[in-house]
Amino acid sequence: MGDTPRVTLRLPNGETLELDVETARLGQDVIAIAPLLQHDVFAYDPGFLATASCQSAITYIDGEAGVLLHRGYPIEELAEHCSYLSVSYLLMHGELPDQARLDTYVDDILQRTPVRDNLKRIVQSFPQDAHPMSILGAALYGMAGLYHSEIDIQDETTRYHIACQMIAKMPTLVALCHRHNLGQELIEPQPEFGYVENFLYMLSGERPDPKLAEAVDKLLILHADHEQNASTATVRVCASSDTNPFAALASGIGSLWGPAHGGANEAVLNMLEEIGSVDSIEEYIERAADSSDPFRLMGFGHRVYKNFDPRALIIRGRCEEMLAMTGQADNGLFQLALRLAEIARQNDYFIERNLYPNVDFYSGIIMSALNLPKTMFPLIFALGRCAGWLSHWNEMIVQGYRISRPRQLYVGQERRSVPAQVGQPKRI
Ligand code: ACO
Repeated sequence: MGDTPRVTLRLPNGETLELDVETARLGQDVIAIAPLLQHDVFAYDPGFLATASCQSAITYIDGEAGVLLHRGYPIEELAEHCSYLSVSYLLMHGELPDQARLDTYVDDILQRTPVRDNLKRIVQSFPQDAHPMSILGAALYGMAGLYHSEIDIQDETTRYHIACQMIAKMPTLVALCHRHNLGQELIEPQPEFGYVENFLYMLSGERPDPKLAEAVDKLLILHADHEQNASTATVRVCASSDTNPFAALASGIGSLWGPAHGGANEAVLNMLEEIGSVDSIEEYIERAADSSDPFRLMGFGHRVYKNFDPRALIIRGRCEEMLAMTGQADNGLFQLALRLAEIARQNDYFIERNLYPNVDFYSGIIMSALNLPKTMFPLIFALGRCAGWLSHWNEMIVQGYRISRPRQLYVGQERRSVPAQVGQPKRI
């Protein structure tokens, strides 16, 4: 007990409080601040810049060194040697599967890829030009409706089956959203195809080149997890009320959609199209560096990475391969993106703030090589991230948890009385 590192805090009322420091296996230690509650004072950290919200053994990021480990394995090695399904198994179970376990897991997933007609009808009820993230979110709420009464989230086998259902059905639902936007019928999954092969087949109706399927498999690995990012934290908060897991995953879709997170890949392509040519780059960089202009370079900057995003390095290399494979080696947007990154990295504003291209800066270019519209990019991100969301949900339940319920610094009106003359609606 005497060995526990402690910090001493002087409270606003003059008392002092000893707080335990919890030691991390890697990275920053944390000060356990829950005892503040007994002293009627809270910690204040809008945007959770300095707050660890949970313990986790899934993913570690060293933002200064540009390191990303899943269950201890570097992302570079996972992207080189593993498939997305092996990585999803690793995230959930803590170890890479041996061949027998992987075969069983892949079978468990591939047999669940078809979706029920109810889900198809949810998708079809949307206007054809609806943003596909809104359709996907609705489809996940539809899953919550279909898989509801039989769910016991405390049961390990049930959680395994939920994870398989979700990982299996996501490609089908994503493809269904795309086909609906195109005004075309769903292409049913083919049981004899592999996971990514099936996904690409359901998008276009054509069996893909194995090299293309491999490139998309790598893309999904790079998106599979990223510790307590906004959407994963949202899934954890939502699930902490013991809600239906598919509803918790739908909340992740809502958070991911925003341009500061998974919607950045779509925003990057919009920005590159707006910039249009190398000649305009300087003007846009000046705008990004002007604090009175709300414009930001999309695909730049990261809360945790302050040196480089290792996923961006991997994906940049893959972009060239992918464009060559799809006959778009001279893709103008990719050339523009490379030049933009080069010029921004020489600009004082970006140097001083450690702003580097993140994974989204290049991922949209790969996705556009698949001939997908920009609105579909966040759905590909969601397809990959689904493995991380499920793993964090599972970890939270295994560890035990309390409902997530932050406090606030109240700055509103003091108590006052409602005036005698107050407007009334014509009907109640
Ligand atoms: N362009 C211009 N300036 C930027 C950018 C950018 N892309 N990103 C950050 N800055 C500036 C901020 O204006 C701020 O400057 P200041 O210190 O003069 O006020 C400083 O850099 C720090 O930025 P914050 O917004 O405080 O950093 P935060 O950690 O809150 O935000 C975020 C990180 C949301 C990723 C931000 O960098 C951003 O908006 N980037 C563009 C969107 C994007 O690419 N999102 C994808 C993130 S990765 C992912 O989700 C997979």
